[in-house]
This record gives sequence, C-alpha cells and structure tokens, in this order.
Amino acid sequence: MSTAISPTAYNYKVVRQFAIMTVVWGILGMGLGVFIASQLVWPELNFGLPWTTFGRLRPLHTNLVIFAFGGCALFATSYYVVQRTCQTRLISDGLAAFTFWGWQAVIVGAGISLPLGYTTTKEYAELEWPIAILLAIVWVIYAVVFFGTIAKRKTKHIYVGNWFYGAFILVTAMLHIVNHASLPVTLFKSYSAYAGATDAMIQWWYGHNAVGFFLTTGFLGMMYYFVPKQAERPIYSYRLSIVHFWALITLYIWAGPHHLHYTALPDWAQSLGMAMSIILLAPSWGGMINGMMTLSGAWHKLRTDPILRFLVVSLAFYGMSTFEGPMMAIKTVNSLSHYTDWTIGHVHAGALGWVAMISIGALYHMIPKIFGRAQMHSVGLINTHFWLATIGTVLYIASMWVNGITQGLMWRAINDDGTLTYSFVEALQASHPGYIVRALGGAFFASGMLFMAYNVWRTVRASDPAEAEAAAKIAVVGAH
Ligand code: HEM
Ligand code: HEM
Repeated sequence: MSTAISPTAYNYKVVRQFAIMTVVWGILGMGLGVFIASQLVWPELNFGLPWTTFGRLRPLHTNLVIFAFGGCALFATSYYVVQRTCQTRLISDGLAAFTFWGWQAVIVGAGISLPLGYTTTKEYAELEWPIAILLAIVWVIYAVVFFGTIAKRKTKHIYVGNWFYGAFILVTAMLHIVNHASLPVTLFKSYSAYAGATDAMIQWWYGHNAVGFFLTTGFLGMMYYFVPKQAERPIYSYRLSIVHFWALITLYIWAGPHHLHYTALPDWAQSLGMAMSIILLAPSWGGMINGMMTLSGAWHKLRTDPILRFLVVSLAFYGMSTFEGPMMAIKTVNSLSHYTDWTIGHVHAGALGWVAMISIGALYHMIPKIFGRAQMHSVGLINTHFWLATIGTVLYIASMWVNGITQGLMWRAINDDGTLTYSFVEALQASHPGYIVRALGGAFFASGMLFMAYNVWRTVRASDPAEAEAAAKIAVVGAH
C-alpha cells in the first residue's frame, strides 16, 4: 500500500484497513453464528468444554458481528464519506490509526475474555471494565477525528450522511459510558452501579439505542451516501432526509422499555415505550422510502448491477424489520413473541437483511476506489454473493417466524383443567426442523462472505500503489 501519501490526498490507508477487517470479522462472526446455530441442532457440538458452550460463544458471536464486523464497516465508511463530502483529509492520521489499532485490540480482548467466561452479564455490554475503558477511549478519539474533520471542511454545508454518522458516534459514547458505570472488584470483575429495575431500565435504554444508533443510524449514514452514489442519482428528497434525521433521533431514545414488557418496570414506562415504538414506524419508513425513491428513473440498473441490488434489498429488509419491530412492541403481541425465536428472526431480519447487506453493498462500491481500481475483480461473484445472502436471510427469518409462533402458542396452550397442554420439551422438539433450516440459511449467508473475501483479495492483489495514491487525491470539484 502507498505509504508516502501527499498531504493533499485523502487518508485512504485507515479506510482500507477497516474495510479489509470488516470482511475478516464478518467471516469469523458469521461463521461463529453458523456454529452456534448448529449447536442448537446438535448439542454435542458444545463438546462438554466450558469455553465452547453455547452460553459463552453466543455473546462472542454478537460482539463479533455487531462491534467487529458492523463497527469496522462503520469506521471505514464514515472515514471515507466524511473526507469526500467535506473535501478534506482526516484531521489527524495518527489519531485515525489509533482508532484502528485500538478497535482491533478491543475485539481481540472480547475474543479472549468472553470464551473464558469473563462478562458483566449485560447483553451487548458484556466486556469487562478494562476493555470497556479502552473502548470508551477509542470512541472519544473517533469522535475527535470525525468532528475535527467536519470542522475543517472545505464545503459550506454538512452533507446529511454525516449528520447520521455524527449522531451515531455521539449517542454511542453516551450509551456506553452511562450503561458501563460500575464498581470493579477485581481486574476482571465489576458490578453495575445501578440496582434492580433501574439497572434493567438503564440496560435496555442502552440495548435498544445500541440497535437504534449503532445498528440503524450509522448505517443510515451509509445509505445516504452509497445509494445515491451507486444509483448515480441525487437523493430523492433532501428535505425528507432532514425530517427523517430529527424525527428518528428524537423518538428512538424513548422506545427501550419495549424490551421489558410485563416486568417490574413501572407500567407507565412500558406503555410509553410501546407508544414511542409505534410512532417510530413513521420516520423509519420515511427514511426507507427516501432511499428507495432515489432509484426513480434508475430502476433498470438493478438488472445489471448487483451492488445496487444489495443496497436496495437492504432497504427492503430495513422496511420490513421496522414494521415488525413496532408490532412486536405492542404489549399483547409481545406477550406471544417475547422469549421465542420470533425475536431472533426479527433481530436477523435487521442484522442480516439490513446491516450486513448495506455494509456489503457499500464495501463493494468503495473497495475498488480506495485501492485504485476501476471495479471489483468479478461482478459475477458479487451476483453470486447477492443471491446467497438473500436466500440465506429469507431461510433464516422464515424459519424463526414459524418457530417463534409455534413456541408462543404451545407455551400458552392450556387444558380445560388449567394445566399446560404441552411440556417445554415438546415445544423444543417442534422447533428442531426450524433450527436446521436456520443453520442452513446461516451457512448460505456466511459462504457468500467467502466469495466476497476471494473477490476482494483478487481486487487488492491487482491494485497498483501509484493508482491508489492517485485515487486518494482530493478532487476539488464535485468530490461527493
Ligand atoms: C451467518 C449469519 C448468522 C447466523 C447463522 C447467526 C446465528 C445466530 C444464533 C444461532 C443466535 C442465537 C439465537 C438464540 O439464542 O436462540 C444469534 C444471536 C444474535 N445474532 Fe446472529 N447470526 C448471524 C449473523 C448475525 C449478524 C450479521 C448480526 C448483526 C449484525 C447478528 C446479530 C445477532 C444478535 C444481536 C443476536 C442476539 C439476539 C437476541 O438476543 O435477541 N447475527 N445469531
Ligand atoms: C422501528 C424500529 C424497531 C422497533 C420498534 C423494534 C422493536 C423491537 C421489539 C419490540 C423487540 C422485542 C423485545 C423483546 O420482546 O424482548 C426487538 C428486539 C430486537 N430488535 Fe428491534 N425493533 C426495530 C428495529 C430493529 C432493527 C432495524 C434492528 C437491527 C438492525 C433491530 C434489532 C433488534 C435486536 C438486536 C433485538 C433483540 C434484543 C434482545 O433481546 O437481545 N430492531 N425490537
């Protein structure tokens, strides 16, 4: 890779590093997903060892896919987008490099500590305090690099994609720091600063907004840049994008209690969470429609451009999961769906269909540009990947819907004398075929990532450092 980059060029080195690691962590995180999905089909795969049990590998899966795969995709694209839309180089190469190495260190820390059983026990916030502190430092530096670059921009206005990335960065810092307030008792054990129902409330304020700001707002930033770019059309409505932004960030923050229906949380808080979740449908769909309609007059491109297909199908799944989510937030629906595989299906409609698909589309758009190539090595392989990912997602979520509703109905079925009609094991047996289909769907999705890795490797291998350097030169006119 080019090392002697001129100061007038964008910093693509850090973008390249994060982009490559997105693919690497994607393969590992999703591969592990397939493994734990297989454990639910064949429990022998737990191997009777503490380090390889489902209970320890499940949080490793979530950390790898959300923070390693998703996080690297967000770092890579935000650094790329902020430079191009502000027509300026990142404010500091050293700080940007620190965020890369620091973030990888956090992930390696997770990879070691979670299988060993060190955990705070808070979902998506499992990392013990030394790693959590490193994460907080990396994140603050990330904010400095991102906002510092915006501050020295050469353009007059701040492109809307950066608003979404900016909100994602700020809110993630706030959530992480507040939810991780804890008392360390040893080097690897800490206890939450909050107790009882307050602890649960803070945790799901964090958990839901991790979904809202990490898994949604950041990726919407990606959507606002890469969809118009790949479609070669301006965003459908810039005005709608501003309304979308403010409505989304003001509503999301209230919806957390829908994770705690029928618990010790005050009833009014549960109802508030439910109401806010239902209203959230409006900005979510507003954003989805804005992305989709950007293709007006360019729909024919879908026939030949698999990158655009990734981006558009991701928006369709975004629309689907943000319709499903508000429905599941209704208390009566939640009384059926909670604890069942329906939730898992909803999660992966968002995670595979939306988060992973938009990231993959964005990477296929960006990788040739940052490596100084005209296009990816093989468009055919992108197409193969697209179909593997789409079929894999559909198999995953359809099987989990069937399982979830079956489980919910079997658990609540009652005989005339008030006894339960089915034992838990009977519901589990009924779920077994669905688990097989889910593992198969996951294998489809994960194998698509291997095609991507090969395609990326061939593209990178063919790249010429001089061309990559030239590609990084700041175009003074029409940089975005
Ligand atoms: C090949 C792809 C994948 C497979 C096979 C897979 C499989 C699984 C399995 C088996 C579980 C545990 C379900 C349970 O406890 O019953 C799980 C949980 C989870 N996965 Fe995945 N996964 C994949 C990709 C992803 C991706 C890309 C993301 C995020 C971007 C993701 C996010 C999550 C989350 C958040 C949970 C926890 C859900 C909850 O607690 O409700 N997964 N996954
Ligand atoms: C308007 C948008 C959305 C609403 C109102 C919503 C609502 C919900 C509800 C009600 C649950 C079930 C809570 C429970 O019974 O425990 C849930 C779970 C979840 N949703 Fe969504 N959802 C939305 C969009 C999304 C998207 C786009 C994603 C992913 C990118 C996502 C990821 C998750 C995850 C990871 C969980 C599982 C949390 C856990 O228990 O570990 N959601 N959501």
